[in-house]
Amino acid sequence: MNLIFLGPPGSGKGTQALKLSQQESLIHLSTGDVLREAVKNETELGKKAKEYMNAGNLVPDALIVGLIQEKIKNGHLGNGFILDGFPRTIPQAEALKRMLEEQSLKLDFAICFHVEDDKIVKRMAGRRFCPVCQTTYNIYVEDAKPKNDGKCDKDNEDLIIRSDDLEDVVRNRLVVYHKQTKPIVEFYRNESILVEIDADRAPEEVFNSILETVK
Ligand code: AP5
Repeated sequence: MNLIFLGPPGSGKGTQALKLSQQESLIHLSTGDVLREAVKNETELGKKAKEYMNAGNLVPDALIVGLIQEKIKNGHLGNGFILDGFPRTIPQAEALKRMLEEQSLKLDFAICFHVEDDKIVKRMAGRRFCPVCQTTYNIYVEDAKPKNDGKCDKDNEDLIIRSDDLEDVVRNRLVVYHKQTKPIVEFYRNESILVEIDADRAPEEVFNSILETVK
């Protein structure tokens, strides 16, 4: 099963992709996580991506497409995958289609998460993030709170606020989403693989809707 998760920042793509990938033994590839790791390790990719990310803008298509191409060519997407946060522009969607066709692969579903902008801004104010293992929490959501305030449940590291979760940056990320990423919803509707999910519900309910779709 090959899936892409798309939707505005903070709509829960990462939370659901992690859970579904574990349950269905799929590779979970989050371009945001790969880029954050590259920034942390100060790699060439990270140095190029940092400014765009901190401002809430998209990293140039060529950098991201190159990254995904390498994963697909080297068979790193295994026997089934969830692409979380890629593609995000029409050129990325077209490039993905070409790259998958070259490997005789295809997407089964493009799952689009819907949450209103104002609710997203509130959600993002509560997000906390482990910089070591990349686990995400939310101090306002009962199911997503860390067990001990400010500490990661998995490695006890101090949790941080992502630099792109400050309100001004979140609002810019939403503008970028509506302008650059929304058009790919139509792209996948035309491919007849689009599934739209109301993601403004408890995480468990959202998960059950996704599961119903993919089963
Ligand atoms: P990326 O990391 O992909 O950010 P994003 O798409 O904006 O998504 P987020 O990680 O912010 O949110 P999410 O939808 O995964 O939600 P989450 O599950 O964490 O990208 C970051 C940056 O990298 C981009 O701005 C860009 O610069 C660059 N980039 C990445 N990919 C790129 C590409 N393809 N092209 C160009 N540039 C690219 O949940 C959010 C919060 O809500 C958490 O606190 C969570 O606990 C909570 N939550 C989750 N579900 C629920 C629920 N149902 N109810 C209440 N709270 C919930």
